[in-house]
Amino acid sequence: MAHKAQATWGGRFSAGPADLMLRFSESVSFDRRLAPFDIQGSKAHSAMLAHVGLITADERDAIHRGLDVVLKEIESGKFKWQTKLEDVHMNIEQALTKIEPAAAKLHTARSRNDQVATDMRLYFKAACAEIIAGIQDAQRAILSVAEKYGHVLIPGYTHLQRAQPVYVSHHLFAYLEMLQRDAERFAVVADHANWCPLGSGAIAGTTLPNDREFTAETLGFVDAKGKPRVTQNSMDAVSDRDTFIEFASACALVGVHFSRMAEDQILWASQEFKFAELPDAFCTGSSLMPQKKNPDSMELLRGKSARLQGNLHTLLTLAKGLPLTYNRDLQEDKPPVFDSHDQTVLCLQVLAGTFAGMEILPEKCATAVADPALLATDLADYLVRQGVAFRDAHHAVGAVVKLAEKNNVALDRLTFEEVQSVHPKFEADWVESFHLEKAMARRKGTGMPGPAQVARQFKRWKKLLG
Ligand code: ARG
Repeated sequence: MAHKAQATWGGRFSAGPADLMLRFSESVSFDRRLAPFDIQGSKAHSAMLAHVGLITADERDAIHRGLDVVLKEIESGKFKWQTKLEDVHMNIEQALTKIEPAAAKLHTARSRNDQVATDMRLYFKAACAEIIAGIQDAQRAILSVAEKYGHVLIPGYTHLQRAQPVYVSHHLFAYLEMLQRDAERFAVVADHANWCPLGSGAIAGTTLPNDREFTAETLGFVDAKGKPRVTQNSMDAVSDRDTFIEFASACALVGVHFSRMAEDQILWASQEFKFAELPDAFCTGSSLMPQKKNPDSMELLRGKSARLQGNLHTLLTLAKGLPLTYNRDLQEDKPPVFDSHDQTVLCLQVLAGTFAGMEILPEKCATAVADPALLATDLADYLVRQGVAFRDAHHAVGAVVKLAEKNNVALDRLTFEEVQSVHPKFEADWVESFHLEKAMARRKGTGMPGPAQVARQFKRWKKLLG
């Protein structure tokens, strides 16, 4: 069945779109979430139109009142969204026109192309702020685990082989660093979004006298000094989707971090490691095996990261072959962005919740970290302090490790005579290299896991995270 052509663009059409085409081309089912930004944009735009004399102050006020009514209806869930009106912009404009005749002037000197670009930039600024707050909540949850178990030592791993001892807090601080970079990335995305495209029209601006700086300022597209920031090329402004891609990229990368933290925690929670116990509230059982407690929140964090990468890929592919400027393909830019936003927020909450309820099991950690082989490097450093070149020291300690293996004893259980037979620079105090606390205290430099540095990092993170 054919419909009457749309009031907003139907002038040159004798028939409207087929049902199938409406279903195929509508975006209101997903872009309705832009409504608050669309209304904010329309208020600023109509204020600008009044400012330059294209509408009267009364018309502006009427439009503003009408937009408030529409927003209330939307917020209360009473608004009747209509698929045949295609998108959020036309739904709002049509509803407004019904209650306020002056609304027929609202679209003066504006196109949906610069309108949607503006909506999305307002949206990105808000979304980035929300995600940054979520990152900080997750960081706080991680910091509280670090505070509670700061003194617990565990082996640090390379190649998933026990490498050197670190405090649990040092390991968790690594997560804080990763997330801190993510927060900074989202701040950069928000800054890149902070340019106002409104006034670019469909592609080539308008012949009417608009005041782009006025609109930009009204919408908060300003620099640190409060100076308006307006996009500098109308064609770029309506076709640019860089911010979409950057946003999705920041989501994909924080997703990679989710996934790596999750993988650690899945290992820590396994019987093989058992460094940690995850909270029941974020685990599930097996329908068949009664003993199972599965780390599902962490596995899903690892899984969601695939989805976040997929969304980024969708956007890159969507944009890559398009001629300037706007093409309807670009309507497909929103679902992946919204999905990345929603999933990232959800992941951050789950990450925070899981860490908030997790316990470190100090005894299991102590058993794992007691392995003296973790301090083999310290023994080589001992020889270096005795004047031996590091390469020779490394080789000598390798031979000591081999000897311990051959004698089937722990590294620190070899006799002084045995190690001296390997290298004459070993003295009676060689075995002190295996004193864990002393070994940790020697790791003094910035970024190292010694207790003084860990204390310093505690201070830094507490200050950063409030
Ligand atoms: N719903 C459209 C989108 O999201 C709005 C822009 C429509 N512009 C157009 N020329 N048909 O891309």
